[in-house]
Amino acid sequence: MVYPIVKLGDPVLEKPAAAITRFDDELRKLADDMFESMYAAHGVGLAAPQIGISKRIAVIDVTFKEDPEAKIVLVNPEIVHTEGRITSNEGCLSIPEFREKVTRARHVTVRAQNLAGETIEVSGEELLARALLHETDHLNGKLYISHISALKRDLIKRKVRKLMKLGEW
Ligand code: NI
Repeated sequence: MVYPIVKLGDPVLEKPAAAITRFDDELRKLADDMFESMYAAHGVGLAAPQIGISKRIAVIDVTFKEDPEAKIVLVNPEIVHTEGRITSNEGCLSIPEFREKVTRARHVTVRAQNLAGETIEVSGEELLARALLHETDHLNGKLYISHISALKRDLIKRKVRKLMKLGEW
């Protein structure tokens, strides 16, 4: 099932999501639906709050369907190691049409659980590192625009408010 993507302005995006404690069929179905929704929206990462579900689960596929082994499900993720810095353009399915340069760690390791509830560690660099940080941020109620200057952030928010008034957001 493809869920509509929740956009900036919806409070669900700015509150910390709840920890997942049940690793059942319902959770597996949610992960499947999240991949489907992410691909439908042409994204490489999606966190559950972005489909209006305030739970700590995110999916990532930085290859966008090219490599089935690149599909990552993170349940209750935590960043355990970061190294280096890299600045690159970043966007978010919940803030469509906008992109900004964001400086983040170049290498990242995340500790999480998989759909069976087992503890896993996922390490990545560059785009994958960025996705691991971006999606974990989402589960903490944080959007990438919190990492840019207040001036740029306010500009985006003003434009979004304008689009909302026009019914185009
Ligand atoms: Ni995002």
